[in-house]
Amino acid sequence: MDRSIIGNWKSNGSLELNKIWFKDFQENIKDSAISSTAICPPYLYLDQVSNIINKANISIGSQDIDISNGARTGSISIEACKDLGCQFSIIGHSERRTLFGETDLNVREKLLVAQDKKMSIVMCIGEPEEDYLSGNTKDYLFNQINKTIKNVDLAEDFTIAYEPIWAIGTGKLPKMHEINTIHKYIKDIVQSTSKNSMVPKVIYGGSVTSENAEELFKEDCVDGALIGGASLNGKEFAKIANQFLNKGL
Ligand code: 13P
Repeated sequence: MDRSIIGNWKSNGSLELNKIWFKDFQENIKDSAISSTAICPPYLYLDQVSNIINKANISIGSQDIDISNGARTGSISIEACKDLGCQFSIIGHSERRTLFGETDLNVREKLLVAQDKKMSIVMCIGEPEEDYLSGNTKDYLFNQINKTIKNVDLAEDFTIAYEPIWAIGTGKLPKMHEINTIHKYIKDIVQSTSKNSMVPKVIYGGSVTSENAEELFKEDCVDGALIGGASLNGKEFAKIANQFLNKGL
């Protein structure tokens, strides 16, 4: 169950709020749910958050990584993230793609370098609303998967986060059975596309809250969740992780 419930704080948090977050989390998380949780604070808070959570069994990840260290002003290397305790990194988030112009090829490059440097990866994919509405979701995802992982020998813990772009921060979700169908499809396509026929863990992201998590986790092919807004509140994040326990993995 490790790292199935991941909080992506995006560019949020503060020295004060981060302490409150952990207090709220601790007061509400069930002991047996802690090991499934992971959080990705902004880089500048990684050190503080690692210290706050101390030895609690929560994984820490980075929200992105760069392909190299050295003369790359403003960027954050895998080495630096590892130094500050990151066990994994998100790559390919739709906000990186739409706001910062990242392409599938950039994501592929990050994946290859990360695997080389033994950094675990959660790779985001997801379709825009017009593709969802026109029934083009599978083709869109096929294209993203093909461009990023074709012929790649994937690490055993490689994870995909399916995040429909139109569901992020909007309160709108696909129907639960649609999410399940897409997760099954992603597993099949990754298996047939990767070099080592790997079947990945697939987690869902996009407007997950403690109100809809229970229904979501009932779906067979939903292996966890990547949570934005609702992860900023320690109590809400803990409630979601507690509900994942019912999945009985
Ligand atoms: P929300 O949970 O706020 O919709 O964000 C999802 C997300 O982008 C997580 O990476």
